[in-house]
Amino acid sequence: MSIKSICCLGAGYVGGPTMAMIAAKCPDIQVTVADMNEKRIAAWNSDTLPIYEPGLDAVVASARGRNLHFTTDIRGSIAAADLIFVSVGTPTKSYGIGAGRAADLRYIESAARLIAEVSQGHKIIVEKSTIPVKTATAITSILAANSTTGATFQVLSNPEFLAEGTAMEDLMCPDRVLIGGETTPEGNAAVEALAAVYARWIPRERILTTNLWSSELSKLVANAFLAQRISSINSISALCEATGADVDEVARAVGMDSRIGPKFLKASLGFGGSCFQKDILNLVYLCDSFNLPHVAEYWRQVIHLNDWQKSRFVEKIVRTLYNTVNGKRIGVLGFAFKKDTNDTRESPAIHVCRDLLLERAHLAIYDPRVSRETIQQDLLDVGVPADLIASNIEFSPDPYTAATGAHALATLTEWDEFRTLDLPRLHDLMLKPAFIFDGRAVLASDLLKAHGFDAFVIGKGA
Ligand code: UDX
Ligand code: ADP
Repeated sequence: MSIKSICCLGAGYVGGPTMAMIAAKCPDIQVTVADMNEKRIAAWNSDTLPIYEPGLDAVVASARGRNLHFTTDIRGSIAAADLIFVSVGTPTKSYGIGAGRAADLRYIESAARLIAEVSQGHKIIVEKSTIPVKTATAITSILAANSTTGATFQVLSNPEFLAEGTAMEDLMCPDRVLIGGETTPEGNAAVEALAAVYARWIPRERILTTNLWSSELSKLVANAFLAQRISSINSISALCEATGADVDEVARAVGMDSRIGPKFLKASLGFGGSCFQKDILNLVYLCDSFNLPHVAEYWRQVIHLNDWQKSRFVEKIVRTLYNTVNGKRIGVLGFAFKKDTNDTRESPAIHVCRDLLLERAHLAIYDPRVSRETIQQDLLDVGVPADLIASNIEFSPDPYTAATGAHALATLTEWDEFRTLDLPRLHDLMLKPAFIFDGRAVLASDLLKAHGFDAFVIGKGA
């Protein structure tokens, strides 16, 4: 089976960039991204894309209107496609059974029901969203029970491993592409059809094929291992601060062991993003469901450590500022969950800003890519009262405005531009003593001290 027409349900951080890359690499395949969110689709069709991702604009521009289309016509797109990626959101359930742990699969389920209703002939359905293990079975049974047209389906799992901020490089040159399918002749044919799409630009040896469950589980495990590395180094950051060691030096020494490797050992005020916490919670829920409490508890600790890291950072700020931040101006540098994205989902900045606001601090927030509406909504969502948001937050156009008259600065995202801040200028603008709390270790602690700051840098001993 050769694929001529692809549709993707969900025009988010995964669906948009992934489909743009497929369209750019396969000019003979029509690729349509469909979403019910009209505003989002209008933005994908405009010059200001709804997500910020380095290199994305050029890839979209190369294919949009030729073989890349963005539409709200979900039914029409499904009907026309040979292969349908399901890339809808799968947030953590906030209610009922499994609340706070299990994935909320209502968007997946409604997508499956619609696919069953609209489809004719044979279609390949590909799970792209991060989902709990065995979701493919649920999708298969919904498709079988609801199709009235005699349509046939093969369900594949093809988890996306791109990281935001480097999505285009990751899509262009992935470490691996993983495709899971049923181990039947029909399943193998569907896997081969999807593999042939990726093989247009990815070497065959990097395209792994497995059974469905291995593929679904591998995504959760990869994210759990990555998050675990961050919690491991963050736990050591606290020990470094207590002992006078430097966490970056420790990470370098440890990471040069080829068995450990140098990546993902950067201490921070905690990991954020839409995947890590959600996927570990999913894994924990899965282990609990299969009566494996020891395994569940092991992974739960990765999240506990991450939560502790965020709280201890806020505590450090409050204690250092003479145990009160009430009425004090704190310049917040960065709000996104990492650099080079406008995404704030699970950003540690949300927790830090919430706690500082509840302590009645005045925040002057600067982020080069995140809109003020997003920041306000994020803080409302974590329970900061609207009047406190209105009265105690100011949005600054640059770091120097945020620093003007501030008691302290806090770096919460590792944007490159913070590495080259004019430290003497910042020091002049701030109240004295001028405190800096660097939650990303982007500023050199010896330079900060040389310029007269009272500096706390995560993982750096006094
Ligand atoms: C992650 C996975 O990397 C990706 O494979 C998967 O598809 C989705 O989840 P993402 O969340 O986009 O990607 O970004 P990532 O670079 O993994 O960073 C996640 C969080 O960890 C960020 O808050 C980042 O600042 C933090 N981090 C990362 C650290 O604190 N230290 C590190 O060394 C690396
Ligand atoms: P991700 O980071 O996984 O890409 P997002 O939340 O950014 O997740 O995007 C998911 C998108 O899926 C949203 O824009 C949402 O409107 C869309 N969506 C949800 N359900 C459906 C559906 N049944 N059909 C099409 N799009 C959907």
